[in-house]
Amino acid sequence: MGHHLSLFRFFPLVAARDNEPEDRAMSERADTPPDRDLPGTILETPRLVLRRPVRADAQRMADLANDVGVAENLSNLPHPYGLDDALAFIDNTEAGPARWTLGLYLKDEGSRFIGTASLMPRDGERFVLGYWVGRPYWGRGLATEAAQALSDFAFGALEADAVAATSRVTNGASRRVLEKCGFQYAGQGMGPSLFYRGMVPIDRFRLERSIWTSLKNWVKTGVGA
Ligand SMILES: CC(C)(COP(=O)(O)OP(=O)(O)OC[C@H]1O[C@@H](n2cnc3c(N)ncnc32)[C@H](O)[C@@H]1OP(=O)(O)O)[C@@H](O)C(=O)NCCC(=O)NCCS
Repeated sequence: MGHHLSLFRFFPLVAARDNEPEDRAMSERADTPPDRDLPGTILETPRLVLRRPVRADAQRMADLANDVGVAENLSNLPHPYGLDDALAFIDNTEAGPARWTLGLYLKDEGSRFIGTASLMPRDGERFVLGYWVGRPYWGRGLATEAAQALSDFAFGALEADAVAATSRVTNGASRRVLEKCGFQYAGQGMGPSLFYRGMVPIDRFRLERSIWTSLKNWVKTGVGA
């Protein structure tokens, strides 16, 4: 595994929710410096800050999400994707206790928004991992870094027994992300696709707590490092 969570910060839920007046103030300031000290940070990895997205991110979110390559691989992303879609999404995000939708912010670029990652209850699973990264940032291990951070969060702070994920059978990159995080193939099925206005074939994956624990211990002993 290339990227491990170096700093694990868990802020009380109330802190994540209490940002709203500040969020509104930020959205009104067009000149918000990109290297602002991000409020409401929930997790931090070597290259990313994970926090609840704010309205000031909406235009950038719309620009990055308005991409067929993103929409066709997600179950419910509207396409085309505009500013109103981003604002509606941001206004409906939750940061706990059951649903976590976090923005990914790249420290190298002054903590600019680059995508999202989430843990949601779905199909009888308590935690289903989802993520997307804007096309300019593909292939740099960033989705893997975010997925590892959220998996650690689920098994650590949220005491998950397992984390599930699905990906379209054609989505080799997402499958690879999950494999790099230790997820195991758990069979095929059909899943909804807003982009295709119907159901599409999907692969199911699961990371069991026992596997996660083994992987973390393996990393600690340095075997294979
Ligand atoms: C899937 C996605 C999140 C990957 O993001 P990313 O930051 O590029 O991912 P990473 O760099 O961490 O890892 C990608 C891995 O997939 C590999 N990969 C890329 N394209 C691939 C393909 N077509 N087939 C197989 N593997 C592929 C990369 O080589 C890399 O593996 P490596 O590190 O072993 O070389 C990104 O492409 C995306 O947002 N796509 C659209 C939305 C989406 O698919 N979300 C997931 C829904 S299940």
